[in-house]
Amino acid sequence: MMAMNNCARFIILTLSAMWLNVFFVSAGFATTSNFPLENIKFTQDQASLQRGAKIYYDVCRLCHSLKYIKYKVLQEIGFTKEQVDLLRGDIPISASLSKTSSDKMLNSQYGQVPPDLSLMAKARKHGPQYIYTLLTTYSEKEGVYENAVFPGIKMPDALNVANAIDESLKQEIKSKAKDVTEFLLWSSDPRAAVRKTIGTYVVIYFLILSVMLYFIMKRVWSRLDKEK
Ligand code: HEC
Repeated sequence: MMAMNNCARFIILTLSAMWLNVFFVSAGFATTSNFPLENIKFTQDQASLQRGAKIYYDVCRLCHSLKYIKYKVLQEIGFTKEQVDLLRGDIPISASLSKTSSDKMLNSQYGQVPPDLSLMAKARKHGPQYIYTLLTTYSEKEGVYENAVFPGIKMPDALNVANAIDESLKQEIKSKAKDVTEFLLWSSDPRAAVRKTIGTYVVIYFLILSVMLYFIMKRVWSRLDKEK
């Protein structure tokens, strides 16, 4: 009887620790960036991911590869096989997304090979907010371009935000920046959505288990009380 009692206590303690864990993991973290990053919420909805993929493809791919993302994986954000085929042309479906400019050309033009973007949303602190703010804070003064987040950046103003005076054009560029960032956030962890679904089931499972164990514990203790 005593063994059972200890066992129940052990399980209750373990479960409490698990709940604490769930709480802390979901609680988030604090910021320490110099330039205030835009606090954009990223939803990972499919329409936005697809628009973002196209912007990456049309704009960023000139200089940046996405070496951990293969063409066939694009089907996971809702592209049909035909759409992927159209994007890749003669490139094999199991090849990863490579940049279109050569390292040599990029090196001579920018003094370096632009980094691969597959994991960029994870590599920078507050990655998605950082990328979004980086893309949207270019400015131009007498032909000299500057960036608020990354002063002296060698990357040109890819989305042409510096010269967008018109308010509606500005908004359009901002929504492009958001979409491409959504896509880069996805590319840094394509399994995230699946994992979150599993996570929800695990939490439900623990909930049911906690309730059951609570009643088991009550029964064990009531028997002990009777024995006294
Ligand atoms: C014409 C070439 C070119 C294009 C097009 C381009 N980039 Fe870049 N990018 C660069 C270069 C060069 C760097 C390295 C900058 C540096 O370290 O000074 C860079 C760096 C970056 C970085 C890393 C910044 C850091 O913190 O180190 C991100 C993020 C980025 N680019 C995102 C994008 C996105 C998103 C697009 C498409 C909308 C894009 N780039 C289009 C050339 C380009």
